[in-house]
Amino acid sequence: MSTGAGPRTVRELLFGLPMLSGELPGFEPDPDPDAATGAVPPTPFPLFLDWLGEAVAAGVREPHAMSLATVDADGCPDLRVVALRDATEAGWTFATHAASPKGRQLAGQPQAAIAFHWREQGRQIRARGPVLRADAATAARDYLDRLPGSRAASLVGHQSEVLDDPAALPRAFDAALARVTEQPETVDPLHALFTVQPLSVEFWQGVPGRGHVRLRYRAEHLGGPWTRERLWP
Ligand SMILES: Cc1cc2nc3c(=O)[nH]c(=O)nc-3n(C[C@H](O)[C@H](O)[C@H](O)COP(=O)(O)O)c2cc1C
Repeated sequence: MSTGAGPRTVRELLFGLPMLSGELPGFEPDPDPDAATGAVPPTPFPLFLDWLGEAVAAGVREPHAMSLATVDADGCPDLRVVALRDATEAGWTFATHAASPKGRQLAGQPQAAIAFHWREQGRQIRARGPVLRADAATAARDYLDRLPGSRAASLVGHQSEVLDDPAALPRAFDAALARVTEQPETVDPLHALFTVQPLSVEFWQGVPGRGHVRLRYRAEHLGGPWTRERLWP
C-alpha cells in the first residue's frame, strides 16, 4: 500500500489528465470542390479500411481490439472487448465460445453494438446492427487456422463460469493442449464466429478545443442504400 502524498480522491487523480492530446489527424467529410481531400465514400466500409490502415501505420496499439455490447435476457446491457478477426462490407467478425455469456446473449437477442477507440488518433468508430453466426464449416476453418495454444484455450471452455479451484485451470489447459497436439484435426464445436452487420456506422474524430467531427452512415436495411449525415458533437 502506497504511503506517498498522492491525490486523495479519484477526482483529484483525474484532474488535468490529458485527453485528445498530441497531434491528431484531420477529418473533413464534407465534399469540398476546391480540395483534393474531403470527400467520403458513399458506403462505410472503405472509410473503415482507410481509418484502420491509418491506425496501423500510426502505430496505434491493438487497433483490432473492439468493444462489443450485447443484451441479456432481462434486457440488461453487457460489454466486453473482443478481437476483430475480419471485416468486409457485410460487417465485423469476431470469434468466441458459443456457450459464453456473450454467445448465449447473441443466441437470444442477435443484435449488437461495437466500438473501436484509437486514442493515439483521437478516433472512435461505432457500429450497430443484427448479428449473424457463421456456419459450422466456416467456424471450423477459423478454429483450425489458430495456434495450438489458442485452440486448447477454446477447448477448455467454461468461459466466464466461476473458477472455484484455480489449480484446475492449468490441468484443463494441459489436457486440452495434449489433445490438440495428438489429434490436430480436433475442432471445438462451440468455437463460433459472429458478424455484426451494420445498419449504422459512425466515424468520430476528436478535435482538441473545437467541435469534434462526426459522420454517421445509416441504412434502413442490410446492404444499404446508405444515408450520410453529420452529427452535432
Ligand atoms: C484485448 C482483448 C481481446 C479479447 N479478445 C477476445 C476474443 O476475441 N474472444 C473472446 O471470446 N474473448 C476475448 N477477450 C475476453 C473478453 O473480453 C471476455 O473477458 C470473455 O470473452 C468473456 O466474456 P463474456 O462473459 O461476456 O462472454 C478479449 C479481451 C481483451 C482485453
